[in-house]
Amino acid sequence: MLKYLVVYASETGNTKKIADEIFYALPSDSKEEINVRSWNGRHDAETYFIGYWANRGTCSLEVIDLIMSLHGKNVAFFGTCGMGNDTEYYRQMENIGLVWLANDNTYLGGYFCQGSMPPMIKERYEEKRGRIDDDTIDRMIAIFDEGQKHPDRQDLLKANVFADTAIRKIPNNDSYTRLRDII
Ligand SMILES: Cc1cc2nc3c(=O)[nH]c(=O)nc-3n(C[C@H](O)[C@H](O)[C@H](O)COP(=O)(O)O)c2cc1C
Repeated sequence: MLKYLVVYASETGNTKKIADEIFYALPSDSKEEINVRSWNGRHDAETYFIGYWANRGTCSLEVIDLIMSLHGKNVAFFGTCGMGNDTEYYRQMENIGLVWLANDNTYLGGYFCQGSMPPMIKERYEEKRGRIDDDTIDRMIAIFDEGQKHPDRQDLLKANVFADTAIRKIPNNDSYTRLRDII
């Protein structure tokens, strides 16, 4: 069985960037990174980092299937969404996954950040002008424009720190116990 498995859903690449960084941060050769579409029961691991993107307030069914299948594992979530710099929204993103996670797993935490959105979303905002007040439209467009820069280097750095923090929460994590003994 693998030590770590990073599984992600990503349509336009934002969540994959976070997945790549988390994978890079994991201190073991016993690790794999796969798109959730390639996931099957044969990819088993002690610890799962599961990534998803906000899709109309939820995540894909493939991700939900994966989360529901886990028992007795260490599990962390990560992902991206259109919304930026909003702790409460990121908490809701985490809850999208948490509602499907069985109690017999050890939850290691979640990390979410903003991701760029396709141009058609901005066009849809503009189409709503006249029907929704200008301030709201302008705010949504400002969030959209900011999103074009994400995930940025800072987001990736935070993802790296998150991976490190998460694995320190694993009960009896051998890598760290051994490292502590050597130092
Ligand atoms: C069809 C669609 C629905 C979306 N729904 C939401 C949403 O409900 N909330 C949100 O914050 N962002 C939403 N977004 C923005 C995406 O979550 C964001 O662009 C994300 O970074 C995409 O990740 P990916 O590049 O890994 O596919 C949506 C984007 C699309 C295209």
